Amino acid sequence: MYLLGYDIGTSSVKVSLIDSETGICVASASAPDSEAPVKSLRPGWAEQEPGSWWRYIKEATGRIISKAGISPADIKAIGLSYQMHGLVCIDKERNVLRDAIIWCDSRGVGYGEKAAIDLGEKTCLSRLLNLPGNFTATKLAWVKENEPEIFGRIYKVMLPADYIAMLMTGEICTTPSGLSEYMLWDFEENTTAGFLMDYFGYNPDILPEVRPCFSEQGRLSADAAAELGLAQGTPVTYRAGDQPNNAVSLNVFDPGQIASTAGTSGVVYGINGNIAYDPQSRVNNFAHVNHSADAPRIGVMTCINGTGILNAWLRRNIMPEGTGYASMNDLAATIPIGSEGVSILPFGNGAERVLRNRQIGCTTMGVDFNRHDSRHLVRAAQEGIVFSFMYGIEIMKEMGLNVETIHAGNANMFLSSVFRDTLANITSASIKLFDTDGAAGAARAAGIGAGIYADNREAFAALKLISEIQPDPKDFSATLDAYMLWKNRLDSQLINC
Ligand code: XUL
Repeated sequence: MYLLGYDIGTSSVKVSLIDSETGICVASASAPDSEAPVKSLRPGWAEQEPGSWWRYIKEATGRIISKAGISPADIKAIGLSYQMHGLVCIDKERNVLRDAIIWCDSRGVGYGEKAAIDLGEKTCLSRLLNLPGNFTATKLAWVKENEPEIFGRIYKVMLPADYIAMLMTGEICTTPSGLSEYMLWDFEENTTAGFLMDYFGYNPDILPEVRPCFSEQGRLSADAAAELGLAQGTPVTYRAGDQPNNAVSLNVFDPGQIASTAGTSGVVYGINGNIAYDPQSRVNNFAHVNHSADAPRIGVMTCINGTGILNAWLRRNIMPEGTGYASMNDLAATIPIGSEGVSILPFGNGAERVLRNRQIGCTTMGVDFNRHDSRHLVRAAQEGIVFSFMYGIEIMKEMGLNVETIHAGNANMFLSSVFRDTLANITSASIKLFDTDGAAGAARAAGIGAGIYADNREAFAALKLISEIQPDPKDFSATLDAYMLWKNRLDSQLINC
């Protein structure tokens, strides 16, 4: 028997097949081959065509089935992970009404700021554990004001995986964790945040029905099965945003545990057993996959939009044609800690929550034309990303989270020794790298939703620790000096915005 997991990301869709008896990943595939485009019609905007996610899913599914050579009927459950906060609007005939406004689009910021003033920050923070900010509910407010004709035709709004699950199963549903991504989960009442729906003037009917993250959320229809080359009736049994899902993939379910990821965006995500919030909402709180009113499991998150996307930008724009990420990592390692005075503020991918939704762009500081070259920029980018993580971790610590061990998949920026060592040294935490990714995690989690595994201990028993990176005391003070310089430079930038 097998389990199939999809990770619907911004740059690609990844899919993994897990043997449910051994828990081992037997095949993985992804599509498209080069990074999926993000449309940016205006500064600060970011959209993708929902139909493109479906095309990538079809392509990746075809690849994995032919690679694994298994019978699709042996797949017993499907799990979905997805780029969070994206807004998909459909009409009654289930046609998409406009391109999806995705997570790093900043046009909701003003609507979130006004809602916080009108409703009162205290009310928002105590009920939503965040300010309404730049999340799905405020992206919809932009549609309501600027595209009233489209808004008037909305039958349902959906997150990216809600839409994909609808295409797979015909059923329209979401999860409590998903509603918390909109900022539409009321943690005080343990239900949909009716007060915010009312404030924005949204009809409650536009929200999909809510089902638990681990539960049967529909079965593959005959049409979808034929399109995907899978078996009709295969159940979809798990759904979570890519950051909670990254934590799930690393078996991070309980208070005190911390997960991190460093893909297009980067995140440090810790589980809090207590209800708390940052009064400035610079770090966010979401309902983790196992959250309940009786046993709160809040995913406390520092999100840095400008993470792997900065590294990818450098590769495309300043490195010689054909340079791979591994060579960039080697180049970064030839430069000493602190990049000999060069700092990069990696905030070039939309409004950054940790900066209270300011869009300050990416800034390079301290370059001396007679001393520095592209290697310094590559290292300073990696250090700058880590320092922006640390900036958020300091706030998470103020909220009572201990950051002693960080779990991460051995992927993306974590493949760089400079990135890993800088993170270990600045946080004084040990970093445990596991052989997993979001798609494998979604597949294993689907086994929980389908009742094949009794709990997360069973589902993640085969999770393999690849390596553990310890902070190196001899590098601590140089790393701290570089961080302090970076922070001062950030402060000087913030004064001007
Ligand atoms: C998390 C966030 C991003 C996206 C990336 O809140 O906005 O990490 O989920 O896909």
